[in-house]
Amino acid sequence: MIIEGRVFYRGSVRELYLFIDGGVIKDIRLSIDKSQSPNIRFMDRGNIILPGFIDIHVHLRDFEQAYKEDFYTGTASAAAGGVTVVFDMPNTVPRNNRLSILQYRDSVADKKSVVDYGLYYGLPPNLDELFGFEDIAIGMKVYPDDLHSYKIDHISDVMIYNHAKDIVTVFHAEEPDGYISGDDSPSIEREGIKYIAGYTKSIGLPTHITHVTCRSFIFDAKNIYTSLTVDSTPHHIMLSSEDLKYPYGRVRPPLRDRECVESLVKELNGLIDIYATDHAPHTWEEKMDGFNGFPGLETAYNVLATLYNKGVLSLNRIVELYSTNPAIRFKLDNILGYIEVGYLANLTVVDLYSSVRVDPTKFFSKAKHSPFDGMKLYGRVISTFVRGVEVYNGEDITVKPGYGVNIKSFKRGFK
Ligand code: DOR
Ligand code: ZN
Repeated sequence: MIIEGRVFYRGSVRELYLFIDGGVIKDIRLSIDKSQSPNIRFMDRGNIILPGFIDIHVHLRDFEQAYKEDFYTGTASAAAGGVTVVFDMPNTVPRNNRLSILQYRDSVADKKSVVDYGLYYGLPPNLDELFGFEDIAIGMKVYPDDLHSYKIDHISDVMIYNHAKDIVTVFHAEEPDGYISGDDSPSIEREGIKYIAGYTKSIGLPTHITHVTCRSFIFDAKNIYTSLTVDSTPHHIMLSSEDLKYPYGRVRPPLRDRECVESLVKELNGLIDIYATDHAPHTWEEKMDGFNGFPGLETAYNVLATLYNKGVLSLNRIVELYSTNPAIRFKLDNILGYIEVGYLANLTVVDLYSSVRVDPTKFFSKAKHSPFDGMKLYGRVISTFVRGVEVYNGEDITVKPGYGVNIKSFKRGFK
């Protein structure tokens, strides 16, 4: 197949032809002889073809929480948001922190997913459990409660193992007691981040802190330990605690005040390395009961496009935050994060300018609610390609459940 259109290529948008075969970009040309090329997919000049988005923080639930979301609905939600690879979090029921569960989860994901996926595992109770994780997992997630349940030396041992196997350790950094008691004050996060920065510096292992909510926290963290990377979410970047009444906008870490939000937005061009949704679906009844989190995949690109239209973000930076930097951080940048010959043909085709009114009843996610409900945002996902196959055509999912694969197995096969 050949895709013709305006392509984001090496930092600028150019009219190009992408030759795709076997899921891989085989050639990139400025012109072709159309009489010799029957199989051309033309993308409207008003749209731009980007390296496929990669979301490193998504809760696909399934297992006993399939009533909230499952691998099909969660990855369909990703496809509709232009996301070509999602990394699934391990706070599942049962918890994904043993090899047998990780293997089982991989088999469920493999049968149901429509985009590619990576799997995090949760901190395992003992070191013997670790062997074999590296064949399946892309990362390990440490929650504040883990700091209560496990000795810090155990966490260090697991992190050393992870580091040797190219598994990224990701921290939810809130001070454990405050987190468990549901304390909403910013100091809970500030203290949590300082602790993780100091701790990871002491063991000398590069680490990632997810969903950071205020500039000063990132500044502190990177000041303590330069080998830290961080991500921030669409909701923490665009919504403040004043915008939303609880329980509607309840999330962990909580939404912050306007000053924090404004400081954070600026860091999209500075200290923030990665953009990630923390897509965390719950039923409406659960939300009313005060559960933390909400779906984010189907509005994430709109938030970026809105910031683009406000002049806050360049197209270059959107691609870095939501494609290239995730690929680099998780050592997938030999196959993902760029449109280049030899790379997977994961492509997100977008319109930057049209406006949308957020309507969660239309979500592919099982969670039909959103903190952005009713807001006017910009941008539209026109089409999502995973390994050269269109999985979303702007309206529907166009592949069967099971098309998506574990990106880790693919990476192995590719080397
Ligand atoms: O708001 C949140 N929801 N924060 C978390 O840390 C967990 C997540 C969930 O799994 O629902
Ligand atoms: Zn999360």
